[in-house]
Amino acid sequence: MSRRIAILPDAVADQIAAGEVVERPASVVKELVENSLDAGARHVRVELENGGKVLIEVSDDGSGMGREDAVLALDRHATSKVRSAADLVGVATFGFRGEALPAIASVSRLALITHDGEGEGSELTVVGGRLERVAPAARQRGTSVTIRGLFFNTPARRKFLRSAASETRAAHEAVSTLALAHSESGFELHVDGTCRLAVPAGQDPTERLASVWGRDLAGTLVPVEYAAGAFRVDGYVQRPGDAQPTGRRTQLFVNGRPFKDPFLVRAAEAGYRAAIHPGDRPSIYLRIQVPAEDVDVNVHPAKLEVRFRDRIGVERSVEEAVRSALGALVAAAPVGDWRPLPVVGGGGQLSGSFGSLLDSDQLFAPDAPRLPGSEGVQPQAGFDVPLVQVFDSYIVYEGPDGVIIVDQHSAHERVLYEAVMVQLRGVGAPAQRLLLPLTLDLTDEELDAFESHGEELRRVGFEADAFGGRAVVVHAVPTPHPRFDAAACFREMIADLARGRFGGWANRLERFAATYACRAAVKAGQRLDQREMRELLLRLFATDLPPHDVHGRSTIVQLPREELERRFGRR
Ligand SMILES: Nc1ncnc2c1ncn2[C@@H]1O[C@H](COP(=O)(O)OP(=O)(O)O)[C@@H](O)[C@H]1O
Ligand SMILES: [Mg+2]
Repeated sequence: MSRRIAILPDAVADQIAAGEVVERPASVVKELVENSLDAGARHVRVELENGGKVLIEVSDDGSGMGREDAVLALDRHATSKVRSAADLVGVATFGFRGEALPAIASVSRLALITHDGEGEGSELTVVGGRLERVAPAARQRGTSVTIRGLFFNTPARRKFLRSAASETRAAHEAVSTLALAHSESGFELHVDGTCRLAVPAGQDPTERLASVWGRDLAGTLVPVEYAAGAFRVDGYVQRPGDAQPTGRRTQLFVNGRPFKDPFLVRAAEAGYRAAIHPGDRPSIYLRIQVPAEDVDVNVHPAKLEVRFRDRIGVERSVEEAVRSALGALVAAAPVGDWRPLPVVGGGGQLSGSFGSLLDSDQLFAPDAPRLPGSEGVQPQAGFDVPLVQVFDSYIVYEGPDGVIIVDQHSAHERVLYEAVMVQLRGVGAPAQRLLLPLTLDLTDEELDAFESHGEELRRVGFEADAFGGRAVVVHAVPTPHPRFDAAACFREMIADLARGRFGGWANRLERFAATYACRAAVKAGQRLDQREMRELLLRLFATDLPPHDVHGRSTIVQLPREELERRFGRR
């Protein structure tokens, strides 16, 4: 009778483990640096050649190992960190499986030089998992692990390695992450002989963040500080106006441990709402604290992912934390109180008799949903102070703390964005039929965009059909304001959608709403009368996040009264 079940030889088991733990040079770097930190290193130096394909070396000034321990460390499941299964709950050290070193050693040529400060140091050489040599070696207290020819004996794996640049990038990110998590230790990263990162030991986490991400990026961050019950999050997020489409950085920690979670990054981005340009990606650095029993950090062999007991709650809290951090920013900005001065006996009406700017009767069908929050805005809330339009672009009035200046395009964009979101989710907006339909020629890409956004276009009030060839005929259009140029708006929107201009906006409806708001809003250079200005401001102050438009640009600026007084020498 032949045996069906066999115990795997250790070497094979190590190679299988290597498949989980050792994916690429970056994962080797991570495991080795974590070992150094576990060994109490104050300084860790990482060196790479050719993206780690030729050489990976990690040296530390940690505890080092005696010779027997060093031999044992290369054995499967040898670990000095866990003695029983109970130790796995709330692990404090990084490594605990006792399989990283043997796994790495099984797929490379490994040299380990170590000295624990007593007697002489040791050098161990392992080739493809086989211990070849143990010899005395001179070294200061600490450990150096040198990996050459990663995956030399598993060619299928080696084939999966990316370009040197790409492997270097991943390894650099791994070192950055560990450096952010351990500001008490110093780190150096050298790539092909060039120093790429050098941070000293003994920094505080904020200094460390500035050193690793760079002063320029750090200068655009605002603090986050949030608590809800046992859940806490702090850290930094980028100011909406500074977010860019490229070069963003993200770092999440849970209970001090770095992890990756695209959904939590999304949740943090949701905290910006429409305050950033849809294509822009803010940098995010958040440290989450939850009770140890509410998070499982042992999901992933390389421990990059975690599982939350209440994922939805965590996502919601992260979003809220970011939102309130940005709210605080707005309050701290020189915007101040931008409500108009109360006027005694005031009580203007919000009648839309002239088919104007933002008249709700124009903008919404009679029983279509109203702008969220607009019910609360009473006409007597203000704007009977005289309003002045300057440069046909800005609306200026007197507020309690200074002179308020509103960018009319940005304000209207903000207002339209929210109105359109309501229309897109509800029954849509009334359209005005054109006496003479417009005929527009589109490119192939634009025709695709037109066809794939047919329903959204209809909901905001554009009725249009493909006419054969590349022509599109527009029969009906929305009327967001009296000087609205429907043909230009339609064309620009289709072009934006075709070019993916707002492509970074995660949610399809939000992307469409931002595109429409940007293209349909009243423009700079268009003259507005008193009533149009007043209606625009009332609408603006009924929206959720008035100080920013869909691009994250300021909508409102205040010239503080003290500033005026200083300039005129009254203070
Ligand atoms: N840089 C180092 N300095 C001191 N000891 C180390 C170092 N790297 C590894 N070790 C020892 O080798 C053991 C095995 O390491 P590893 O295979 O990564 O497993 P784990 O980290 O999960 O224990 C560790 O528990 C530790 O005792
Ligand atoms: Mg380890």
